[in-house]
Amino acid sequence: MIVDGRAPAGIAQAVRTLAAGELVGVPTETVYGLAADADNEAAVAKIFAAKGRPSDHPLIVHVADAAAAPHFAAAIPEFASRLIAAFWPGPLTLILPRRPGRAAAAAGGQSSIGLRCPAHPVAHALLLACANATPPMAGLAAPSANKFGRVSPTTAQHVRSEFGDGLLVLDGGPCDVGIESTIVDCTRGVPVLLRPGVLTVDAVSAACGQRLLLPQEAAQPQAAPRASGTLESHYAPRATVRLMDARSLRTALAVLGPDAPRIAVYARSALHSDSHQVLLRRMPGDPAQAARELFAALRDFDDAGVQLIWVEAPPAGPEWDGVRDRLQRASVR
Ligand code: TXA
Ligand code: MG
Repeated sequence: MIVDGRAPAGIAQAVRTLAAGELVGVPTETVYGLAADADNEAAVAKIFAAKGRPSDHPLIVHVADAAAAPHFAAAIPEFASRLIAAFWPGPLTLILPRRPGRAAAAAGGQSSIGLRCPAHPVAHALLLACANATPPMAGLAAPSANKFGRVSPTTAQHVRSEFGDGLLVLDGGPCDVGIESTIVDCTRGVPVLLRPGVLTVDAVSAACGQRLLLPQEAAQPQAAPRASGTLESHYAPRATVRLMDARSLRTALAVLGPDAPRIAVYARSALHSDSHQVLLRRMPGDPAQAARELFAALRDFDDAGVQLIWVEAPPAGPEWDGVRDRLQRASVR
């Protein structure tokens, strides 16, 4: 059931549902999350079951403000505090050493915890109401509200199409950022990027006062999958995604025969096709706008029943890192 997340009655209903150990779909500025009380193991188990996600893949825990972080984190290094000061509330998740006994199921049994303070007003209102409930809920574990490996939802309707009408979903409108948060591992003495988002490497480095290491520059601490967002194939629509430059796209379109499959073409460049089999859609030239509509576009293409999605590869600039990363993962089979 979709309810208005901006109405106090919607927030109250969500708090009751969460306190009863059930799940709620929650808007954040990045993507919609599938939330449970982070300290309730049985409730968190329902997230893994609903998503079909392996239970050793840790979930992000969302908090109302920075003051709630020590409930879950055993220690916050100086550079992490700087990142919190610079980017919370906002699309940044920090991996920190976990306080023993807290949110163990949400952390997938790891000794670390992923924490984020979202900037969306509905998420914030819900987190505050949870923190003030009796008994209090200090945080909400919430992965993206999609089946494991699929495209993340950026509207309440997307969440309903993933989990059906039995799930309570707070409607907060379309997500402003559109791709998942940037994840920085703060457990290795130096900041390490685990998943790119809309914050650039330079902006994160400047804020924490040291260079953010890319995953390939840092030693791998363990074999367990630390972030499902770092699995090669992820965020995949049903159709097969292929990344091409504008020239190859033009050539491919020009040689399409009459029995070509149905193809969606998503490009920043102006392209043309006479084929009825081709659905053309323009990708925004602004990286923030491109991120905002990326997942909705991929879902629209699936809904249109195309077999192939040909995407013009994003430009090389760092402000495109998040969009490029999601498209690359969507194109791996
Ligand atoms: O923007 C976002 O981050 C969205 C919204 C809902 O906040 N959430 C999200 O959650 O993308 P999820 O679970 O789909 O992705 C979170 C990533 C996962 O890949 C998870 O493995 C990683 O964060 N993560 C969470 N806790 C971790 C931990 N303790 N150690 C390493 N990675 C962790
Ligand atoms: Mg996800």
